Amino acid sequence: MLPLLRAHEDAARAVLPQAAHDYVATGAGDEASLSEATTAWGSLRLRPRVLRDVSTVSTATSVLGVQLPSPVGVAPTAAHAMLHPSGERGTTQGAGAHLVVVSTRSTTPLEDLAPIGPWWLQAYVMRDRSLTADLVQRAAALGASAIVLTGDTPLVPVRTRPGGLTADVTVGLAPHAEGAAEQDPATGLDAIGWLASVSGLPVLVKGVLRADDARDCIAAGAAGIVVSNHGGRQLDRAVATAVALPEVVAAVPDVPVLVDGGLRSGTDVLCALALGAAAVLVGRPVLWALSAGGADGVRDCLAAYDADLAVAMALAGCPTVTDIHRSLLT
Ligand code: FNR
Repeated sequence: MLPLLRAHEDAARAVLPQAAHDYVATGAGDEASLSEATTAWGSLRLRPRVLRDVSTVSTATSVLGVQLPSPVGVAPTAAHAMLHPSGERGTTQGAGAHLVVVSTRSTTPLEDLAPIGPWWLQAYVMRDRSLTADLVQRAAALGASAIVLTGDTPLVPVRTRPGGLTADVTVGLAPHAEGAAEQDPATGLDAIGWLASVSGLPVLVKGVLRADDARDCIAAGAAGIVVSNHGGRQLDRAVATAVALPEVVAAVPDVPVLVDGGLRSGTDVLCALALGAAAVLVGRPVLWALSAGGADGVRDCLAAYDADLAVAMALAGCPTVTDIHRSLLT
């Protein structure tokens, strides 16, 4: 794990109320998926290349036509105002030109985010679909370039250390009946095409861990996949994303596959790219950074990933992201 990430985590523990800290830190069940996430990346072994002129290393890449300074983006996470007064605005400002996926459970209305760089909106299909339709249309009007439909959260399980959500979670939804903004557990694959048509944007599906699901999502109109087990917060014992990623990449070779969960260093990112990920998303480290230092913390966190990735790429003999291949791994 990068030293700065640990420093941010320690600083966050010192400043946050216990309930807010535990809300971020916790996983579902016995936290098997949570604890395996990072060790699964750490168990991969590299076969670096030599004498490949790495005098200049560039982490720049593009995903779905969006130019990015690095393949490291911000995962969608709820309730940033609970962690720092700047809330999601601090996150988007700190992320700069990095990709940010804004959560449906953002505590900042989309209109107030003022993102500097590219952003996507994470969506749930709510029981009242008109609320979701309104949200994704607002996102599209505000410049979001894709929708990320989270598929692994038909309901929210009891977590082992039940941290309290102490902030109002609202993205400025229209007034609605009790329960209308909950995720609809009846949501099926048809939601992909529906979201694409109401938003006019490409839709990626997040939470995919299997080849057959990935194929079904693409057949239903998805433009990409995010391999994720929700940071170990949904089904405990769900397979580690480092383990699931290869079969998903092999199943849907023509679309971008992103991955999140337990990525804590540039070397982890290098391994994810070697397994075929187009980009990675980072959850808790960004939240600890926001808690510890607001926008500056987020900026420093992502800069630390980028710097570490550049070093790992140089040492692996990969001057550009396109030089990172499966053959880098044993
Ligand atoms: C999440 N995650 C999440 N995912 C999502 O699609 N919508 C959401 O609102 C949230 N909210 C959320 C809150 C908190 C506190 C955490 C920690 C996570 C899951 C998130 O997008 C991502 O999948 C994981 O966080 C990635 O794992 P790491 O990087 O936290 O290990």
